Order: sequence, then C-alpha cells, then structure tokens
Amino acid sequence: MVLFKKSEDLSKWIETQRRLTPSEQFFSMGFVPTMGALHQGHISLIEASKAENDLTVCSIFVNPTQFNDTKDFEKYPATIETDIEKLEAAGCDVLFLPAVSEIYPQGTQLLKHYNLGFLETVLDGKFRPGHFQGVCQVVERLLQIVKPTQLYLGQKDYQQCMVISKLIDLMGWGNKMKINICPTLREADGLAMSSRNMRLNKDDRIKAVAIYQCLNHLKENIKPGNLQYLKEKAFKKLEQNGFKPDYINIADAYSLEEIVNWDGHQKPVALIAAFLNEVRLIDNMLLG
Ligand code: PAF
Repeated sequence: MVLFKKSEDLSKWIETQRRLTPSEQFFSMGFVPTMGALHQGHISLIEASKAENDLTVCSIFVNPTQFNDTKDFEKYPATIETDIEKLEAAGCDVLFLPAVSEIYPQGTQLLKHYNLGFLETVLDGKFRPGHFQGVCQVVERLLQIVKPTQLYLGQKDYQQCMVISKLIDLMGWGNKMKINICPTLREADGLAMSSRNMRLNKDDRIKAVAIYQCLNHLKENIKPGNLQYLKEKAFKKLEQNGFKPDYINIADAYSLEEIVNWDGHQKPVALIAAFLNEVRLIDNMLLG
C-alpha cells in the first residue's frame, strides 16, 4: 500500500496510474473516506471497492469541522498503526492521510455553505447543528483530490449517505461518480459496528445492543396506522437500558420525512440516535 500525506503527490500519482492503465478511458477507482479507528465495516467497503475497481483509495482524516461537540472530537479514537495493518491485509492500494492544513489550506473559518434543504433540518441535522456542513466541506475537498469513479459508504450513516448524494448532485458530479451504499456490519449480538463502540465501557457495551433490539421490535411490529405508540415504547426501552435518546424516528426511506400514519405502502426506515453516558450511537433499519 502506498501512503500519501500531500494532496498534490496523491493526485499526481493517481494520474500516472490512470495513464498506465491499458484502456485509460475505462480506468475505475473506488474511494472509501473514513475517520480511522477502522473496523470490519470499513474493511467490507474496501473489499467491495477492490472487487469492482482498478484502484482502491482509502482516506483517514478526523475532520474537525463536522464535530459540533469538541469533547467528541478530542475523544475520537485514533488507532493509526492498526488501521494501516488492516488496510494492508485487505489489499487497499492507497492510503491518504492528510493533515488539517492540507485539507483546509485557508483554515477552517469561513468555509463554503451547502444548501442541503430539508435534509439538514431533521434527525442528525437537527441534533448536530453544522455537522452535515462539515461532512460536505471535507467530502467535496476529498473528492476533488481523489476524483474517484465510485464512492463507497456504509448504510449505518443513513442520513450522511443521503447528504453526500445531494452534495454530488449539487456539484454536478452525478454522471462521473457512482455512490455505493453497503450494508451495516454488526457484532455477534447485533450492535452496529462503529468506531465509537471502542469508547464504551464493559457495562455500556452490553447495554448498547438495546438499539438493535428496538429497531428489530419496530420492524416486527409496524402496522398501517399511527406509529406514535410504537415509537414511544422503543423510546422507553432505550431509557430503561440507560440511554438518553436524541431521537427515535420512522421516516420515508427516500425523503426522510417523518411518517406519522403509515399507509402500509410507503417505504419506512427507522432511525435512532442515543447517548450511553458520553458516547453517542446511531443505527437504522429499513422496515416494512
Ligand atoms: O463517516 C465518516 O467517517 C465521515 O463522516 C466521513 C464521510 C469520512 C467524512 O469525514
């Protein structure tokens, strides 16, 4: 695996690889953007990209502009040595490991604002003000440097996938970049794999499975009609397990508009964000 810290070096190297490919116009490159603390979920994205592309690039960059909570940023797990080992074992071709000054040469103040519309007013958009602006700022910059033909994202960050899709539309890149949304990988008990799971203490790690159980409960019990009672029950179950939920919502899987009365046809997705002590976990499940 080749490691780059400077965007210019990476861009030049990629361009050379493109030119060296026998059928240059069909050159395909998969990109997996991450914030490190890699787990099997990330590795499954690398594997998906490797299976479909000439070249697979991964980035590790803990983006300061997407953290609305400085404590969360400071405590974000960093495991770079093992990350590199995992990427090499998975056969990743390139790792981009930039410094903040490389991504934001003009600093992190006065960055671009994206018109994300409704998407930014609900769920994580509402509970983490500025978060999705930060995601767009870093993803636009990374995509401009790497210029992949395919982007690989995990379904665990359901709303983020929709935001990045919107970003690609806003940039007019839809015809040159395909987004692949890959399934959430889960631990044996069902907890969605996440870098933040590393921050859970032993007791909380056991309790954390309640999110998955709630999602399953919603999936098994959803019926046409008003969904309020079902959501309230799930909320109570999380609270009983020591969580402080930000939200439990059932929304239209394509628009993220809340479904109050389900007609039995609209495609619903259940989304949860909840704190266990200081650690905020998110998860989602398609229902119906
Ligand atoms: O999902 C993440 O790890 C991050 O939000 C991303 C997409 C790498 C942008 O920093």
